[in-house]
Amino acid sequence: MPGPTDQIRETVRDQYAAAARAATEGQGGCCGPEAVSCSPADATGVFGATLYDEATRVEAPEAAVNASLGCGVPTAVADLSDGEVVLDLGSGAGADVLISARRVAPSGHAIGLDMTDEMLELARANAADAGVGNAEFIKGYLEEMPLADASVDVVISNCVINLSADKPRVIAEAARVLRPGGRFAVSDVIADPDMDQVTKDSMAAWTGCVAGALTEGEFRHVLSDAGFDDVEIEQTHRVHEHAASAIIRARKPSGENCCPPESLADCCEPAAKDECCALPAAADLPPERCDCPD
Ligand SMILES: C[S@@+](CC[C@H](N)C(=O)[O-])C[C@H]1O[C@@H](n2cnc3c(N)ncnc32)[C@H](O)[C@@H]1O
Repeated sequence: MPGPTDQIRETVRDQYAAAARAATEGQGGCCGPEAVSCSPADATGVFGATLYDEATRVEAPEAAVNASLGCGVPTAVADLSDGEVVLDLGSGAGADVLISARRVAPSGHAIGLDMTDEMLELARANAADAGVGNAEFIKGYLEEMPLADASVDVVISNCVINLSADKPRVIAEAARVLRPGGRFAVSDVIADPDMDQVTKDSMAAWTGCVAGALTEGEFRHVLSDAGFDDVEIEQTHRVHEHAASAIIRARKPSGENCCPPESLADCCEPAAKDECCALPAAADLPPERCDCPD
């Protein structure tokens, strides 16, 4: 099994810094199973730009779409509308952020979060080329998002969560930054339950978005532990002998039936308890007061 969080992040960062430099120089690819390209030069067509249909491609600069290293099109299922704040986890060259920015304009905005300077630079150049004013790209880790609680309406992501060594932390952070009722709509790789140990132990397969992937059952479990409801996972296409791409959707409970935080414990009736317990305010309550899980 590849090493701890920092070591994995550094290896992943090196790989994607190289991918950003290659895209800037007009070359293809870097990743995919066994480090096969998952960009425009991806001969298999299971990663990257070929997944975007013609109508979507015109919503972002060609260079941004062509530099895509994703395994799906999360904006196709995120149902974005004017005024929303969208956060893209691991935004890469920025295609999904720029598509989102157009869909939430004029009053909404889109934020790309990425740890790799070269990717942030590429994404900012693509945003400038597209003349998109309601998009920003910020540096940070998925495991420690530099964003306020309940500040985002929709979290999207394209083939990134599998790269993290601490996926429960990433999903918990997504739940924290989403407002109550906020949506989670990501494309990611899902491992088959029988993925072999050689693939799991391969760092190349990890940075290529395969070895670190959760199984569908594990993804459901992590989402539910973070308090998400309405979890839907739909596999879209195979990306590896032991893995598929999937669209994963979930919703943070709205807390509509909850009282204000100061009296939350008093309104934990069975019908509202799950929603109330998922709210950040419930985290500070003694568990015995409203029977929220520890
Ligand atoms: C496979 S690429 C996907 C990029 C983009 N979503 C796309 O569809 O083209 C993964 C991106 O996530 C970023 N990344 C990976 N792990 C990260 C982490 N733990 N925190 C922040 N960014 C991360 C990498 O720098 C890279 O830009």
